[in-house]
Amino acid sequence: MEPNVKELKKKTNGRELFWTLKPKSEKEAGESIVRNLLLHWFPAKTMLKSLSWSYSLWLGTISVALFLILAVTGVILMFLYVPSVERAYQSVKDIEYVVSFGWFIRAMHRNATHLMVAVVFLHMVRAFLTGAYKNGVGVGQNRPLNWIIGIILMLVTLFLAFTGYLLPWDQLAYWAVTVGTDIAKKVPLVGEQIRYALLGGYEIDQNTLIRFYVLHCFLLPAFVLILISYHMWRVRKDGGLAVVDSIVLNENKENKSNGSKSKTYSLLGLTTGRTVQVETTIRDEEKHTVNSVPSLTRRIGLVLLGTFVFVVIMSLFIGAPLEEPANPDVTPNPAKAPWYFLWLQELVTVTTFTIGGITFD
Ligand code: HEM
Repeated sequence: MEPNVKELKKKTNGRELFWTLKPKSEKEAGESIVRNLLLHWFPAKTMLKSLSWSYSLWLGTISVALFLILAVTGVILMFLYVPSVERAYQSVKDIEYVVSFGWFIRAMHRNATHLMVAVVFLHMVRAFLTGAYKNGVGVGQNRPLNWIIGIILMLVTLFLAFTGYLLPWDQLAYWAVTVGTDIAKKVPLVGEQIRYALLGGYEIDQNTLIRFYVLHCFLLPAFVLILISYHMWRVRKDGGLAVVDSIVLNENKENKSNGSKSKTYSLLGLTTGRTVQVETTIRDEEKHTVNSVPSLTRRIGLVLLGTFVFVVIMSLFIGAPLEEPANPDVTPNPAKAPWYFLWLQELVTVTTFTIGGITFD
């Protein structure tokens, strides 16, 4: 019979009731996943191969860590930042020069943004090169869907970074957003309308600032959070990282040829049944899997900590820039889009093409 909560609390001193990093049995390792809401993304067992440092380089987890750093530092900045054309620049200047450690929080936020754009891109390249966008073996897989979710995440990450660029309301911000939204104007047929919707008019002013502020601080982070949660849950539904498929395939081949039985994991990886993602074998289960708690959770903890320490050290040396207040009458030469849009800036500057008699330049 299952012990009730009171008995369990007495027996375990309350420790394992929520979660433990030191499970004493396979059952406890599984239970710590079931009981902890944050760990519901993980199965009770993880394939050893997907824990390799060199296969995925943990770039997805590093992206999550950067997003968390951005959320925390962003909320701190929100206490001090004023989204008004008259006061935005001064409030950022105060954060930079007056508020204790304000410069440091700004630097962390800025550095984590640039790192996130780069790391999400590298994660995408890694997923592409390892063919993780294709379905392998296993019931209920839909890796192409997760690839598409990933592409949306990449685009939203870029847009999130771009909307933040305007907020300091200095020369760098103003002109980077001018160039960036001019690029949007080049979209065939609806470019003008896109630029109008982004700016809230024909030029960058209070309407633009409040639009970018709401997008940057509320809508886009909420959207990214929902997408990341779904993206990670899908990795689990797809039976773990794609590398796992090759082992399962080999095992199944081997077992079919020597006649051993195979079993399938149910949703929590604790019991057998048909609600399955991954087919594996009874014979070699031990060899290929470990308990997610602590093997996976410990690695995730290390990646989160490592990313945090990296951003802290980087921010001690590289601060966030703050130029003169925005001035629509003084154009810097050259006026540049943010670095992650430079390729687009060059592309639209040098490319002209004609479709059905209409020329786009
Ligand atoms: C905010 C952005 C993103 C976050 C936080 C994120 C997070 C993650 C995490 C934690 C994993 C599992 C572990 C790992 O591979 O490191 C993962 C896997 C995966 N991600 Fe992302 N991801 C993001 C963007 C993208 C993008 C842009 C793509 C591609 C267009 C993508 C495609 C995939 C694929 C295909 C997998 C499965 C990899 C495999 O099976 O080997 N993700 N993601």
